[in-house]
Amino acid sequence: MTVETIFGAPPAPQPEAREAITIRRPDDWHVHLRDGDMLASVLPFTAAQFRRGIVMPNLVPPVTTSAMAAAYRERILAARAEECDFEPLMTCYLTDATSPDDIERGWAEGIWVAAKLYPAGATTNSHSGVTDIAALAPVLERMERIGMKLLVHGETTDPQVDIFDREAVFMESEMLPLLARHQGLRIVVEHATTAETLDIVRAHAGRAAATITPHHLVINRTSIFQGGLRPHLYCLPIAKRERHRLALRKAATSGEACFFIGTDTAPHPRLRKEAECCAAGVFVGASALQCYVQVFDEEGALDKFEAFASLNGARFYGLPLNEGTITLHRRPGRMPKAVPVAGDEVVIFRGGEDLPWSLGEIRP
Ligand code: NCD
Ligand code: ZN
Repeated sequence: MTVETIFGAPPAPQPEAREAITIRRPDDWHVHLRDGDMLASVLPFTAAQFRRGIVMPNLVPPVTTSAMAAAYRERILAARAEECDFEPLMTCYLTDATSPDDIERGWAEGIWVAAKLYPAGATTNSHSGVTDIAALAPVLERMERIGMKLLVHGETTDPQVDIFDREAVFMESEMLPLLARHQGLRIVVEHATTAETLDIVRAHAGRAAATITPHHLVINRTSIFQGGLRPHLYCLPIAKRERHRLALRKAATSGEACFFIGTDTAPHPRLRKEAECCAAGVFVGASALQCYVQVFDEEGALDKFEAFASLNGARFYGLPLNEGTITLHRRPGRMPKAVPVAGDEVVIFRGGEDLPWSLGEIRP
């Protein structure tokens, strides 16, 4: 059973519907590129879709210093194909020991554009994350002063809290106090998954924003259990009820400046997904724009697609808009099932399906 059969066939295109859409080249404001063989295998997919990417620092060991970020950036650049113009934007993995001076040094030297806050233990490779957000105040005050963005994985790590409530609890117990304590800090709530999170972001628009993944627009929590357990749909934050999926679709397609792309493409080898304990993460790097544009099409909001894909994020980060364009065609294309990686493979979100939209020309 495919994701499409879970939600029924997409509505038939309207007679006046556009057969292609050309937008300014988009960016991915949340991407896990990994390292080594995995980096080499997945980078071409992200680079074929996006001009820039905010690269997540949750490697093993995590990217906690400006020197590590600079070295990681070089490895990404070296993994690019010759003609590839993909630009990695680096982030700092915050820990209890992060120094405000190193944060500022990496910022001043142009090594990183943001810092990522993982509550310790919240998700894949977050064990060295932050145990006490309030104690991070000196780092956050420095970021506020220099204008460096804070990116937050917004889930509580309290094991007593139901996994489907972890984002909601975090938003109330940590995010609202954080927003109150640091009123000049610009915060991206990463991979928002609940209607309430979207409302909190809207209420703080201008200094808060949210990324929305393709998969959270397409699946709900029942999809993960459709006909059996589907490990390749398991990610964190976990998909929520249908009402949240509908709220995410409404927000993404609204044109509101506080919402933008962040695919959270998070590849894991099939062996780590189809395992006794399945790793969290969905590899959506190969099908992201096709999924997003289909959602905008279904919602009758193709005119809002460029804002979500290519304008809102750059503006929030204070970065220039991309110059070139990419065209997407309403032309069915078969998504490959998986990508080979060093003797294993990574299963693609909606891989094996005929997606109604296909990637077209890029003009740099
Ligand atoms: C991400 C990963 O695999 O690195 N996994 C995920 O489920 N999204 C980490 C993250 O962003 O939470
Ligand atoms: Zn992520």
